[in-house]
Amino acid sequence: MVELLRRFTLLTAVTTAFAMAEGYTQADRIADMQKMAQAMQDIQSGFFYNNVDIIKAGTKVLKETITNVRPIDSEVNNKDIYEKWLNNDLKMTRKIQKKIKNKANDVEERFSDGDAVQALQAYSKISGQCMKCHVRLRKW
Ligand code: HEC
Repeated sequence: MVELLRRFTLLTAVTTAFAMAEGYTQADRIADMQKMAQAMQDIQSGFFYNNVDIIKAGTKVLKETITNVRPIDSEVNNKDIYEKWLNNDLKMTRKIQKKIKNKANDVEERFSDGDAVQALQAYSKISGQCMKCHVRLRKW
């Protein structure tokens, strides 16, 4: 039991050190957000122009960029009352990232299969995930 606790503490310390060393600034996050907003617009253009290549270019950028999104350094390094909130924040972020990637794959697959309606539905689910973070986390 003591051994287990020690291991757990060590693991936590290592994880924390890693997260702090990473370096993700507010500017980085804003740049990622703008990239994703552009990708969403590209995907929408792909629908309207019936062009699967444009769609795939957009989903590629979206999937790559959402992977970067996380709390910025000043949020991570905040030691006190925000810790609990931060944990939720990270958990929610991971869940949203997974959903956005899945739905981006759905957009590609459905559109390639000629099912534009389903593709559009997956697309609006992506928008829903973007807004979920903005509304719930940022209180926008
Ligand atoms: C995990 C949370 C989270 C998710 C998911 C998320 N955002 Fe954001 N978004 C933020 C935060 C936080 C900001 C504020 C950035 C800042 O000013 O520090 C932001 C800001 C933005 C902005 C404004 C950037 C600017 O120029 O000020 C845009 C545009 C944006 N997000 C688009 C998106 C799109 C599109 C998606 C989905 C594909 C998305 N966001 C998903 C958290 C998120």
